[in-house]
Amino acid sequence: MQTGFLHTHTLVVGLFLAFYLFKTILLLAGKIDLLDKVRDKTKVVDIVLGTLILVTGGYLISIIGVREPWLWVKTVAVTALIPVGIIGMKRHNKALAVLALVGFIYFYGVAETQSLTMKRTNYAELATAGADAALYSGQTIYQNECVRCHGADGAAEVYKAYNLQTSKLNAAQAVDVILNGRNSMKGYKKRLNEAQALAVAEYVQTLKR
Ligand code: HEC
Repeated sequence: MQTGFLHTHTLVVGLFLAFYLFKTILLLAGKIDLLDKVRDKTKVVDIVLGTLILVTGGYLISIIGVREPWLWVKTVAVTALIPVGIIGMKRHNKALAVLALVGFIYFYGVAETQSLTMKRTNYAELATAGADAALYSGQTIYQNECVRCHGADGAAEVYKAYNLQTSKLNAAQAVDVILNGRNSMKGYKKRLNEAQALAVAEYVQTLKR
């Protein structure tokens, strides 16, 4: 059931952004008459897309149980930026419209990289740099990287992710999937060393029911 939700969320966000970008360009180019015509004809679309973003996003948070700060910051900021953008367009206020646009694009990047600085954590480098081992324990890596698709309990199945509670793979087989990826799950070879991949795989074993 929840499988399709991340896709739906990504899709409505993409549509909203494309549409918003178009209107910002009209506003900046001074095509106010055209902008007002477009806005007038698409009022409902705007409301529907804005609402869908919040509903699908809220639903995703509720099923995957993510606790990372970037997600909360993003959720609060986007919820505030949607009305800022709508008001900016309505009042033909370029500053507000551009502020919202920059915010949307930034938080899109944050969601993609799951980091407020838009840098993916490289655990293998952390280990060679001698960082505190708690930063790359199996559980920490799982919570930072895997929860958004597999959920805190392993059963979220977002993005068609397999249910890890009922997975038949042993730790060594899971290491292979984790490092090399499989279908729509990307491999973590560049960011995890083998010991770290094994630590996550062993953590995954503890989720089995
Ligand atoms: C973008 C979503 C996504 C992320 C992030 C993700 N996975 Fe997956 N995972 C999937 C999908 C989708 C599959 C099923 C792949 C297939 O169809 O072959 C899968 C499959 C697996 C499997 C194989 C299960 C089985 O029984 O065959 C394991 C193990 C696994 N993931 C562990 C992890 C771990 C550990 C992490 C974090 C380091 C992780 N995944 C991050 C989406 C994800």
